[in-house]
Amino acid sequence: MHVIRTLPELRDHLGRFERPAFVPTMGNLHDGHLDLVRQARPRGDVTVASIFVNRLQFLPHEDFDTYPRTWDSDCDKLQAAGCDVLFAPDERTLYPEPQTCKVHPDGALADILEGHFRPGFFVGVCTVVMKLFACVQPRVAVFGKKDYQQLLVIRHMVRQFALPIEIVGSETRRADDGLALSSRNGYLDQAARTEAVQLSLALKAMAAAVQAGERDFAAIEARAMQSLSARGWQPDYMVLRRRADLQAPTEAEPLVALAAARLGSTRLIDNLEIPQAA
Ligand code: PAF
Repeated sequence: MHVIRTLPELRDHLGRFERPAFVPTMGNLHDGHLDLVRQARPRGDVTVASIFVNRLQFLPHEDFDTYPRTWDSDCDKLQAAGCDVLFAPDERTLYPEPQTCKVHPDGALADILEGHFRPGFFVGVCTVVMKLFACVQPRVAVFGKKDYQQLLVIRHMVRQFALPIEIVGSETRRADDGLALSSRNGYLDQAARTEAVQLSLALKAMAAAVQAGERDFAAIEARAMQSLSARGWQPDYMVLRRRADLQAPTEAEPLVALAAARLGSTRLIDNLEIPQAA
């Protein structure tokens, strides 16, 4: 695996390939990320991952400074997963001057849910992803469905700017008890880790209610919020939305249940696509 830190080097190295397949990350890699690399591999003629902890997508009170940086093990894991090129720019390489030109995604999609609770988050994500796309010039890029709204926001950005990049969504990887793998799970102590599974259980209960024919979505959402609150969580949202655009459902259409909740000081997100009745 080639580790590349500068743009000229990256351009020089990737110039000989026609179809880079790209997995952007912020490092602290787990099996979910490695699934993304495995999805990317057969889709391109060179597999490129990036590690860059993007300051622009953290709010001032969030965990930018303490976000886990696990360089050596990340490199080992990427290599073992078959990554060919790791692009790991430092801040001065990616943002040599203050990044005043930013991508502002469509508010209907990006100012709700995560965008509501983390204002500016998707501006930071879209700006860095656009910039990484400009650096790597991939033909395919793989994102996890764990960050469901992020995947939709990126797809929309790519469509609106007519970027010649196929965006692939990869299924969420879960621990044996059902907890979605996340870099932030590392913040959980043992008791919190045991409790954390309740987030995915709450999503399953929401899905089961819909599948059982319940159509009072507000009641389903309120029950989910209450069930987590009663266990000491602080849920930001537990909602049922249309998969296509994350707006409130109006009729029978593919749905996704989405959740974000704080357990102690750790904020977890998860989601579940609700299988449609046959
Ligand atoms: O999903 C992530 O890890 C980040 O939001 C991304 C896409 C790498 C942009 O920094």
